[in-house]
Amino acid sequence: MLTVVVVVVVLSSLLTPTIEAADALARKAVIARDVVYVSTPQAVVDKMLEMAEIKPGDVVYDLGCGDGRAVVTAAKRYGVKAVGVDIDPARVKDSIDNVRSNKVEHLVSIQQKDIFTLDFHEATVVFLYLLPALNTRLMPQLSKLKPGSRIVSHDFDMGDAKPSQIVILTTDNEPGVRRDWGKNEHILYKWVVPWETEPLTSPSKSKTGSGQ
Ligand SMILES: C[S@@+](CC[C@H](N)C(=O)[O-])C[C@H]1O[C@@H](n2cnc3c(N)ncnc32)[C@H](O)[C@@H]1O
Repeated sequence: MLTVVVVVVVLSSLLTPTIEAADALARKAVIARDVVYVSTPQAVVDKMLEMAEIKPGDVVYDLGCGDGRAVVTAAKRYGVKAVGVDIDPARVKDSIDNVRSNKVEHLVSIQQKDIFTLDFHEATVVFLYLLPALNTRLMPQLSKLKPGSRIVSHDFDMGDAKPSQIVILTTDNEPGVRRDWGKNEHILYKWVVPWETEPLTSPSKSKTGSGQ
């Protein structure tokens, strides 16, 4: 009887950390499901990089990097260091595959992390394609970036932060990209740290290839 009790006690103490770890993972999975994975069409990635006015020495972060297309494009086109971060292991694998097939391992690193506990103070350019509430939740971290750092967000604004530029871009259908709303119209917001905090004004419109 005593042996049984000892075994049960030992087993439960061994299992406790495992249960805690499983809880932590489940919490992260819930966070990941808050934002369904939808990739940014390549034409929109290209426009966002242009809006970010990337220069040598910049460090580009994509918070929730999906298949890594933004960080891979930043490295290939501008030769800058880039970091993609995603909480979902499947997206991290896609990103690593993308980095390898484009041979930019020397410039791009991919991390599996929760962006809300991530230290990204080295970033000078940040890409976002999350949700308005998540952008707002990131504001304390984003506001600590070096002055002059650029934040570019696909489709969603960021609380009371006044964008320095808003572009509306219409793209052609991209095979494999699911977009069930907005008729392929993409709103892109840019802020420069430190941003102004005034109400949003109505966006200026532009189309793909219009040169804006
Ligand atoms: C709408 S997708 C955007 C993907 C990519 N940035 C793009 O534009 O193609 C949002 C991504 O954020 C990731 N994500 C959601 N919550 C996250 C979190 N707390 N930490 C890290 N990544 C997260 C999701 O797994 C998903 O890949």
